Amino acid sequence: MNIIVTGGAGFIGSNFVFHMLKAHPDYRIICLDKLTYAGNLSTLEPVMDNPNFRFVKADICDKEAVDKLFEEEKPDIVVNFAAESHVDRSIENPQIFLETNIIGTSVLMDACRKYGIKRYHQVSTDEVYGDLPLDRPDLFFTEETPIHTSSPYSSSKAGADLLVLAYHRTYGLPVSLSRCSNNYGPYHFPEKLIPLMIIRALHDESLPVYGDGMNVRDWLYVEDHCKAIDLIIHEGKVGEVYNVGGHNEMANIDIVRLILKELNKPESLITYVTDRKGHDRRYAIDPTKIHNDLGWLPETKFADGIVKTIKWYLDNEAWWQPIISGEYQNYYEKMYGDK
Ligand code: NAD
Ligand code: TYD
Repeated sequence: MNIIVTGGAGFIGSNFVFHMLKAHPDYRIICLDKLTYAGNLSTLEPVMDNPNFRFVKADICDKEAVDKLFEEEKPDIVVNFAAESHVDRSIENPQIFLETNIIGTSVLMDACRKYGIKRYHQVSTDEVYGDLPLDRPDLFFTEETPIHTSSPYSSSKAGADLLVLAYHRTYGLPVSLSRCSNNYGPYHFPEKLIPLMIIRALHDESLPVYGDGMNVRDWLYVEDHCKAIDLIIHEGKVGEVYNVGGHNEMANIDIVRLILKELNKPESLITYVTDRKGHDRRYAIDPTKIHNDLGWLPETKFADGIVKTIKWYLDNEAWWQPIISGEYQNYYEKMYGDK
């Protein structure tokens, strides 16, 4: 089996590459990644010499490069992780989100139509469903929840989702989609909540909590997400959407406090800053369908996963130190300077 994994130098994509090489030692995994600010080749260092792995630097919007790779590799499956993924950046500059997340998806699917494919899998997000109120803990996102996006990021992901389903209906392309809740774990880029807070706390720097800190996210350990996608591409039904999440809702402020406690740092580092524009209040996935149809269940409890993740950042400063020096400093100043 030949599998093209786009965005495999990013957070979830790299964890998926590692998972697939381990779980399916007879598969060939080809990673296609543009290496944007969020892509890190050093992440893939441990598998670069694996004969079943190939890395190709290319943009999913580049039709010629994508077609060339399909001609060379004749993939059986494409799993599309490549995306602009940070909500705050999408608020600053929506354009690149539309290009990569929507146009890039169409370029990949056109190549799938041209060369033939057993499965095209789109890695999507629960953010396409918008948000839920804090005072209705009985409500969850199901696969039937209407698309109702808040940010340019989630809108671009929703646009791509609709296009994927349209390619199935119009051209019979064998697609599947997964919509997952917030992931955490190793190789998470330090612009996102959990790694940002761990690294800033380690440096005794202020921890910028948006608004009242009561926004709720439904956290899933990244390995559990990778296992869900592995299951869907092999056993999931064509044309179907699967929600992925582990019923682990946490308010942001509770996560920040937990990180401080684990690192033995004072709560005085917490700084409430101006809220994110259009900030979604609560995400919560109902994972009944993937559990009933495919037998998937998350394996890592948050209490264990967060400790493992903090330990990973403590042990892997060599991975994140080069990221937070240089351009990242300008990013932080620009995004948080006047908050
Ligand atoms: P990430 O930002 O860490 O990584 C994105 C990767 O895509 C990077 O390696 C980047 O270089 C690459 N990329 C960006 N533009 C590209 C282009 N035009 N061509 C080729 N490669 C390109 O993102 P992530 O957090 O790993 O998310 C991966 C996917 O999972 C995204 O589609 C995201 O929407 C989805 N998702 C993420 C989460 C989460 O909590 N992080 C949750 C649900 C779904
Ligand atoms: P983030 O990791 O950006 O993921 P998403 O917005 O896709 O859920 O943010 C998670 C939550 O943490 C979200 O409610 C915004 C909040 N947040 C902060 O309070 N401070 C920060 O510095 C960041 C990056 C996020």
